[in-house]
Amino acid sequence: MARARRPFFCGNWKLNGSIAESLALATEVRNGVATLRDADVAVAPGFTALYAVAKRLEDGPVSVAAQDCFWEEKGAFTGEVAPAQLADVGCKHVIVGHSERRQLFGELDAAVNLKARAALRAGLQPIICVGETLAERDAGETLGRIQAQLDAAIAEMSDDDLSHVVIAYEPVWAIGTGRNATPGQAQEVHQFIRARVATRSAPLAPKLRILYGGSVKPDNIRALMAEADVDGGLVGGASLSAESFVRIVKEGSAA
Ligand code: PGA
Repeated sequence: MARARRPFFCGNWKLNGSIAESLALATEVRNGVATLRDADVAVAPGFTALYAVAKRLEDGPVSVAAQDCFWEEKGAFTGEVAPAQLADVGCKHVIVGHSERRQLFGELDAAVNLKARAALRAGLQPIICVGETLAERDAGETLGRIQAQLDAAIAEMSDDDLSHVVIAYEPVWAIGTGRNATPGQAQEVHQFIRARVATRSAPLAPKLRILYGGSVKPDNIRALMAEADVDGGLVGGASLSAESFVRIVKEGSAA
C-alpha cells in the first residue's frame, strides 16, 4: 500500500563529534542511502560541524538540520545563533523544543513557538518536538500535555507556515532509555496530533509529517512505521552509527 506521506528520518547527533568525526559519519550516511528513493533523510550535527557537513553533503540526498536556534535575527544576544545564520551555512531544517532543551535549559512553550516561527521566516523547516514525561503519562495526562505543547508551538502560524512544519512526538521516558513507545502508544498520540492540526486546517492535516522519536532502533522501526500516522523517525543514539542509522532508514521506508 502506498504511504500517505513521504517518510522522513533525521539523525540527531546531540553533543557529539569533532568536525572530522562528523564528516566521516555524514559521508557514510550519504553513501549508505545513495540508492534510496523513497525517503527524505537528514542529519543534525553539532553547531561547530554544520558548515563542513553541509558542504560535504551539498547536492546529495541527505540534508542538514541544526539542533536549536534563537528567534531574533541579530543583536546583543551573546552565544545565540539565528535561523538565517543556519540557512547561511547550509541547513535546511532545525529541531526546536527538544525535551532536553525544555528540561535541562528551561525552554518554555512560548520560546518554542518563537523559534519555530523565526525558523520559517528564514526558510528553514522546523522539526517541532512534543512529548510527555513518565509522571504525566502515569497520571493520564499524555494527550492534554501534547495538546498544550502543540497548540503553543503552532500558535500564530499561517496555513503556509504550517505546511512547512514537521512534528516529532518524543515521549520523554523513551529518549535514550532503550524503552521505546509501543507502536500502539505512538499511533494514539500521532493520530491525536493530526486530528488536532485538522481543527486548525483540515486540508493540511493529512499532509503533515509526524515523526516518532525515543529509542528508535533498526529492529523496532518497521513496527512503528506500520502505524498509519507514523511518518518517520527522529533518531538519537542509533544515528551515531552510520550502519544502524542507514538500516533504520531502509527498514523504515520499506515498512
Ligand atoms: P534516542 O534520542 O533515539 O537516543 O532515544 C531521540 C531524540 O532525543 O531525538
